[in-house]
Amino acid sequence: MILVTGGAGFIGANFVLDWLHGCDEPVVNLDRLTYAGNPDNLAPLAGDARHVFVHGDICDRALVEDLLARHRPRAIVHFAAESHVDRSIHGPAEFVRTNVDGTFTLLEAARAYHAALDGTGKAAFRFLHVSTDEVFGSLSPTDPPFSEDTPYAPNSPYSASKAASDHLVRAWHHTYGLPVLTGNCSNNYGPLQFPEKLIPLMIANALAGKPLPVYGDGRQVRDWLYVGDHCTALRRVLEAGRPGETYNIGGWNEKANIDVVHTLCALLDELKPTDRSYKDLIAFVTDRPGHDRRYAIDARKIERELGWRPAETFETGLRKTVQWYLDHQDWVRNVQSGAYQQWISENYGQRQGSPA
Ligand code: NAD
Ligand code: TYD
Repeated sequence: MILVTGGAGFIGANFVLDWLHGCDEPVVNLDRLTYAGNPDNLAPLAGDARHVFVHGDICDRALVEDLLARHRPRAIVHFAAESHVDRSIHGPAEFVRTNVDGTFTLLEAARAYHAALDGTGKAAFRFLHVSTDEVFGSLSPTDPPFSEDTPYAPNSPYSASKAASDHLVRAWHHTYGLPVLTGNCSNNYGPLQFPEKLIPLMIANALAGKPLPVYGDGRQVRDWLYVGDHCTALRRVLEAGRPGETYNIGGWNEKANIDVVHTLCALLDELKPTDRSYKDLIAFVTDRPGHDRRYAIDARKIERELGWRPAETFETGLRKTVQWYLDHQDWVRNVQSGAYQQWISENYGQRQGSPA
């Protein structure tokens, strides 16, 4: 069996659902159920004995040790994190706690567990750390994309905390021989993403007839990857990645934010037409402090060594995503609780805005 952390969040839940769709190897899923963790994401697994959900914190060393001792996983797949840049600007402490201290706690528990395994168990064990391209900092328009050798230069509290966790993971391999693997992935999108991130926020606001808040000039560039493709890449890294290595994972799909929003509006105009175009809702608002201008991923290593390439194009992935949100309006309403409204007014209330 495998131990997954953060499997009630966006990517983790997609990973667990895909995993149990594709095989019968059980999953122990440790999640603290923060605002981003949602048991509804795992509803299709209700009553499924292959999925053991544990409501708990990765910073709780005794709990992690107990789970390792009881379930004897052959791998840990570590998603649990605070993951939203804007929240990290408003309140960085939780990011250091979960992303740095939490990863440290897992590594220490994994190290002790791994050391006590027999020869075969030791050789087979893997610690797969799920990280981000944001650790590499910001590119100019003409810079080559991030490779695995690009020096770290994180700019936000979020990316700094993820960079710190990546360094710990690296060191636990180098110093203690823990068989770690790291994936540094670009921006994900797809079903089950919490509507604080660009794509689901824009879909939710558009459907509610609310402004679509584009930060700054909207010309910041991100590489976008459909979440199902990220999950496939992670399974491949777990299966065949070389311990100690890092793999950049991306969609070969750089887009400026404003172009993403225009594409979303066009899809919504087609799939859920109203008497006006959703584009009329676009509003440029005060930029995010320290906003990274461009991320881009060179994903040739994972293709060359592990034979992975994304299956979805941006067009197919985004269409699936918009359709999913249209079909799951109850899911959206359920996560737009009081705490969500509070975040929206905290993040957007102070920004000056003007219609596009
Ligand atoms: P998310 O915010 O949707 O989910 C995070 C999950 O972790 C939630 O279920 C939450 O309850 C859980 N969690 C938070 N703190 C915890 C703690 N202390 N103990 C146990 N569980 C805890 O995040 P996501 O978008 O699914 O991202 C998952 C991972 O992938 C993160 O490590 C993130 O840095 C990385 N990543 C995300 C993206 C992206 O575009 N979303 C891209 C690259 C990498
Ligand atoms: P986000 O989804 O928060 O991911 P990240 O900051 O980790 O890349 O944002 C993606 C891009 O969209 C980023 O450049 C910020 C921008 N953005 C907006 O323009 N408006 C918004 O309301 C949000 C949430 C993001």
